[in-house]
Amino acid sequence: MKKVLVVFATAGLLAACGGGEKKDNAAAEEKEEVKKAPEDPAYTEGMALVLGSDCTTCHKIEEPFTGPAYKDVAAKYENTPENIALLSSRVIKGSKGIWGEAQMTPHASLSPEDAAKMVKAILMLKK
Ligand code: HEC
Repeated sequence: MKKVLVVFATAGLLAACGGGEKKDNAAAEEKEEVKKAPEDPAYTEGMALVLGSDCTTCHKIEEPFTGPAYKDVAAKYENTPENIALLSSRVIKGSKGIWGEAQMTPHASLSPEDAAKMVKAILMLKK
């Protein structure tokens, strides 16, 4: 009986590992889907929100300013739903210490949906 349990436990572990891999593949496929050229309407919409907010007082697309260049942000993070959620919450709550000592001010009035659209557009800058 004990042996059976061990076998089951091992099988469970293996299944857990396999599941992890599958998830990576799904994320990669999803990435291909979100990662369209900047002519993508999602890019145009997200960037319009960025330009309409205060983001440009600290960020430029090509070079670091008070905050990191959006191109560098795109190079650092894969365009996955998880990263979009993570970065959107940092934009809303503010952030410090990831890129340096400069602080990104919180954007508490920004809706999570708009923040996600902005971040999505930024991550589309990945070459
Ligand atoms: C007051 C200056 C300032 C403003 C305004 C600002 N940022 Fe930032 N941003 C920063 C700084 C500084 C960092 C790096 C923070 C860190 O090191 O944790 C940053 C980091 C980021 C990051 C990367 C976060 C990470 O986890 O790597 C994203 C994405 C971002 N900003 C998007 C935006 C968007 C979108 C807006 C407009 C809604 C915006 N920022 C407005 C200064 C600013």
